[in-house]
Amino acid sequence: MKDLKITAVIKIYQFEELSKADQELITAAKEATKRSYVPYSRFSVGAAARLVNGTVVTGTNQENAAYPSGICAERTTLFYANSQYPDQPVDVLAVAARTEADFIASPIPPCGACRQVMLETEVRYNHPFRILLYGKEEIYEISSVGDLLPLSFDASSME
Ligand code: THU
Repeated sequence: MKDLKITAVIKIYQFEELSKADQELITAAKEATKRSYVPYSRFSVGAAARLVNGTVVTGTNQENAAYPSGICAERTTLFYANSQYPDQPVDVLAVAARTEADFIASPIPPCGACRQVMLETEVRYNHPFRILLYGKEEIYEISSVGDLLPLSFDASSME
């Protein structure tokens, strides 16, 4: 018997400690929450992706009366980025979430489906990207999707 040990390092920052570019991306994700469509959960999520050419695209969660037909902010954003700029890898993805009362104190981790879509975006461009998860009290920085989704399934698994 052998162990397969998987480790991930998540860096925790205060907003003021981040670079100006990262602060701006988080601010864009926070702003985006205003454009979410969340009549069912009342939980607004916004995401902002900075592409390698510097373009910033944002997206939000979009819910549906047939619940599973809705989609998370992360996938809205990545699919939009990949649709509009198919030749541009994502460099950084920031995510912010709020209830009706306020932004959450500690970051929410992305759901499994979003992690899988993030992974495809890394693999397809062969370009690992950073993920910034915003919370009012702390911000998590994850250096690549691989750290969020270890032991992952991608196209190479089928070779
Ligand atoms: N949601 C996101 O948009 N991103 C996440 O990382 C977690 C959850 C959305 C889905 C749904 O509209 C609402 O938040 C509650 O689950």
